[in-house]
Amino acid sequence: SKDEMEARIIDIKQTLGKKLFIPGHHYQKDEVIQFADATGDSLQLAQVSAANKEAEHIVFCGVHFMAETADMLTSEQQHVYLPDMRAGCSMADMADIYQTEQAWPILQQLFGDTILPLTYVNSTAAIKAFTGRHGGACVTSSNAKDMVKWAFTQKQRILFLPDQHLGRNTAYDLGVPLENMAVWNPHTNTLETTQAPENIQVILWKGHCSVHEGFTVQHTAMIRQTYPQMRIIVHPECSREVVAAADDAGSTKYIIDTITNAPSGSSWAIGTEMNLVHRIIKQHPDKHIISLNENFCPCLTMNRIDLPHLLWSLESIVEGQPMNRIQVDSNTAIEARLSLERMLARA
Ligand code: 13P
Ligand code: SF4
Repeated sequence: SKDEMEARIIDIKQTLGKKLFIPGHHYQKDEVIQFADATGDSLQLAQVSAANKEAEHIVFCGVHFMAETADMLTSEQQHVYLPDMRAGCSMADMADIYQTEQAWPILQQLFGDTILPLTYVNSTAAIKAFTGRHGGACVTSSNAKDMVKWAFTQKQRILFLPDQHLGRNTAYDLGVPLENMAVWNPHTNTLETTQAPENIQVILWKGHCSVHEGFTVQHTAMIRQTYPQMRIIVHPECSREVVAAADDAGSTKYIIDTITNAPSGSSWAIGTEMNLVHRIIKQHPDKHIISLNENFCPCLTMNRIDLPHLLWSLESIVEGQPMNRIQVDSNTAIEARLSLERMLARA
């Protein structure tokens, strides 16, 4: 039963003490988050993983690329596990390393040596290694603006992957005109633009998050009509149109902080992952908060991690045969770490 599973997890956590560390992303289910030793967005979880020097076992409650990042930022004696291997990220899967290696020479031909790759942490270790190898860095939604600014001090142009929306929204906020951005289509190996190459400043990889693309201008219009007083806040993985129609946009941490600091009695529609929105609603009974779309916005892969999987993973550690270790091969890790460290140095 649920009670038995919870009691057993508490028991194991007590037995393992500081040898065990459970980071939990804000999008995880409540039943999992209650056992997290640290919660945060992807930047915070990368930082706390890097700072932890004592845990031998890191049971990562989040998705695959986050566990890879934790593995690369911890020592060899520290092992990282993902309670369910099916907890991937469809956005990270949209930038395949083979596609990227194919794209790069074509882009070099078009633009010469003027491009710096920037990759959202929501990417595979191989993409982070590609980025590191070419002088680029990782970004998260919390530091994207600072990192894009930095990138322009290094090179004239940016290749932003894999999320076109975070790339476009961030560059737009920094004053890059939309016509100076072009989408790279990895299926046709072409740049989708009618502009001359010299005008292009930002090349956006054609990837997206299906959770955040689920929010539309129909949703924002409906809120304006039904609740004229309501403020709309969305994650920058939403499309440019939705971010433009909202009152505010920012990372997971920014959304949480904004609602926490909002006056009692204020009303909000939030456009981000459902587990987080429901948790925010519970934590702020003095505010009127709804999801921008009540029907569709769970991250199905985040939700793969549940109580039974967490317990199974912990039991395997206690039994001395840990399952689902995430281990990035050392050649990839060396180059990927360059891109992560360039970010963490500025985060
Ligand atoms: P952040 O945690 O950086 O806000 O990213 C959101 C997300 O989609 C995580 O997968
Ligand atoms: Fe990936 Fe989107 Fe899920 Fe984040 S919310 S893990 S970007 S699919």
